[in-house]
Amino acid sequence: MEKSGSGPFRCLVTGAAGFVGSHLCERLLALGHTVVGVDNFFSGRRENLDPFVAHPRFFFHERSITEPRLLEDLHAAHGPFHTVFHLAAIVSVPYSLDHPEETFHVNYRATIHLLNEGERLGVRSFVFAGSAAEYGTQDRMPLRETDAGDSTSWLSPYGEAKYRATMAVASRQSPLRGVSLRCFNIYGPRQDPSSPYSGVISRFVDMAVAGRPLTVFGDGRQTRDFVFVDDVVAAYCQAAGLATDGSGAGPWGIYNVGSGRPTAVLDLARLICRLTERPESITFCAERPGDIRHSTASIEAVMRDLGWTPRIDLEEGLRRTIQWMRGAAQPLGVKASPDVDGSEKK
Ligand code: UD1
Repeated sequence: MEKSGSGPFRCLVTGAAGFVGSHLCERLLALGHTVVGVDNFFSGRRENLDPFVAHPRFFFHERSITEPRLLEDLHAAHGPFHTVFHLAAIVSVPYSLDHPEETFHVNYRATIHLLNEGERLGVRSFVFAGSAAEYGTQDRMPLRETDAGDSTSWLSPYGEAKYRATMAVASRQSPLRGVSLRCFNIYGPRQDPSSPYSGVISRFVDMAVAGRPLTVFGDGRQTRDFVFVDDVVAAYCQAAGLATDGSGAGPWGIYNVGSGRPTAVLDLARLICRLTERPESITFCAERPGDIRHSTASIEAVMRDLGWTPRIDLEEGLRRTIQWMRGAAQPLGVKASPDVDGSEKK
């Protein structure tokens, strides 16, 4: 039986086989918590679970977040959850443009249902994976949490569904505390470089390690705010009050999670060439339609309220990503097999 006040706690992680979700599961297990993971492998990868799937405090269910009885079943099987980390989603922006209704169903409606069920079943913290995409196109940088609103012009159904879900999550404060982390450009080991829409760092590192030229879209002067996956995981733990002392206390609301620094894509390409000790080999390609020009987070609120600060700078994060890519046990870019309900993975 778990203690209620000081932990360790029982946590649910949806999207457990995803890039961020798998790192989060590992950290929670290392902190002594019990982790129930859910994934339907729509975009998650089975091999992401390998490092911890046999851990005695890890329990995995291959199920979808759209199943109405999901939380009730897991509650009955494992007992009450202290925290629900809700990361499972349709994560591809282009897919969301082609499938707006499905995106709304998975990223918004299923989130609201999980939130209501969490409240009913006594969940204390609900930590949601928001996104920088919630800001749509903006001129003012850095972006503050109040810069997204009902009149924002979103560039995709993904951005709008994430915004609406964030607003619902962040409006809950008692007895369930809702927190939405609007993460900027996350990168690090296990990020899949195989699609043209994969994160730029995973693509550039993959190209550099393979000795291919790096493809810069447009003039490369567009900027992004890159944040290392371990820092993002720390933010999730701090948002749930689970980071170190397990006190279980914490604020509620919406928080940006980024480095707070802009990096130009061309500078990034040059840095990756240097760190991989490759000659600077860069191909300039057409600008990507729909690309935003600049994106930088204001991280004042998360630093103030959660006591979180990014610890891994870009150069160190890139070194770790390069090391992982060089040692990746099996070639990436391989499509995984269909999941049990027959839906295809992206
Ligand atoms: C990211 C998120 C997206 C979210 C958006 C919100 C990822 C993978 N995507 O998109 O979910 O909606 O933030 O702000 O994190 N680029 C190149 N060459 C390449 C690949 C990309 O120059 O080979 C450029 C792109 O044109 C873009 C920049 O790198 O200007 C970043 O691209 P990308 O990593 O795909 O992320 P975002 O478009 O910022």
